[in-house]
Amino acid sequence: MKALELKGVSFTYPNGFKALGKLDFSIAPGEKVAVIGENGAGKTTMAKLTNGLLRPGAGQVLVNSEDTAGKTVAAISRHVGYVFQNPDDQICNQTIYKEITYTLRYNKSCAPEEIDRRVKEALALAGMAGMEEVNPYDLSFSHRKFVTICSVLLQEPEVVLLDEPTAGQDLACMRRLENILDHLQKKGTAVLTITHDMEFVVRNFQRVVVMAHGGIISDGTPREIFWNLDVLREAALHQPYISALARRIGLPGKVLTAEEFAAALRGSGRTL
Ligand SMILES: Nc1ncnc2c1ncn2[C@@H]1O[C@H](COP(=O)(O)OP(=O)(O)O)[C@@H](O)[C@H]1O
Ligand SMILES: [Mg+2]
Repeated sequence: MKALELKGVSFTYPNGFKALGKLDFSIAPGEKVAVIGENGAGKTTMAKLTNGLLRPGAGQVLVNSEDTAGKTVAAISRHVGYVFQNPDDQICNQTIYKEITYTLRYNKSCAPEEIDRRVKEALALAGMAGMEEVNPYDLSFSHRKFVTICSVLLQEPEVVLLDEPTAGQDLACMRRLENILDHLQKKGTAVLTITHDMEFVVRNFQRVVVMAHGGIISDGTPREIFWNLDVLREAALHQPYISALARRIGLPGKVLTAEEFAAALRGSGRTL
């Protein structure tokens, strides 16, 4: 079964700009996919189409094999949680507790003890344990992003879309984010992560989707994608730095990590 499926999805903005053309994509429960592509490629448009914020001009968006046409954003977002690119477009409550529990309290779909359990779990994962009463706007951009991630975690949707969660994150925040991805995967959640950080992709994903000019131009493992120079050129992306260095000095094999670089260097009998 697919957690999420886009079938021949096209989208044109009201000003006539065609942002996506005939997109086909699917993700299974428990699968983790990185979406990469230069600014303007259509990544955010695709994300918004999957949770109903935008509706396809043509094609279908299916969640748990059900067509989302005619369903409200509220109904779709119970199944597809979207963490916006900019947290300030999402946050609208005065405390972290109120913000991240808003939907559950509003829907009355969850017992208060269960809400509190989820709050504790999510805040611990986000490195914000005990910060329930803090105003999100007193936090840094990076932490506000984690607040919006917690909001989605609390709803326990089957699909989670993270729009550029790595932007502006330091090492500790990056580790927390990676923990959250692992946590979601263990729970069987399908996770789509839009990012510009190629090293983050290599560390965390087995499947990478490349977008360019409103379409998916490649879908494969990090090694397939990051050593396909034609695809990278077309998408205006760069190789991970260690891969670029390995290529520059002519190391054999398709190096993706520092460990592989060291092994390839030893194997070639060369030293730096
Ligand atoms: N509201 C809008 N009206 C018209 N064009 C838009 C709108 N939002 C985005 N676009 C255009 O659609 C294209 C894809 O945008 P977007 O999905 O945000 O790309 P990405 O997330 O990959 O950077 C861009 O060329 C962008 O300028
Ligand atoms: Mg975007």
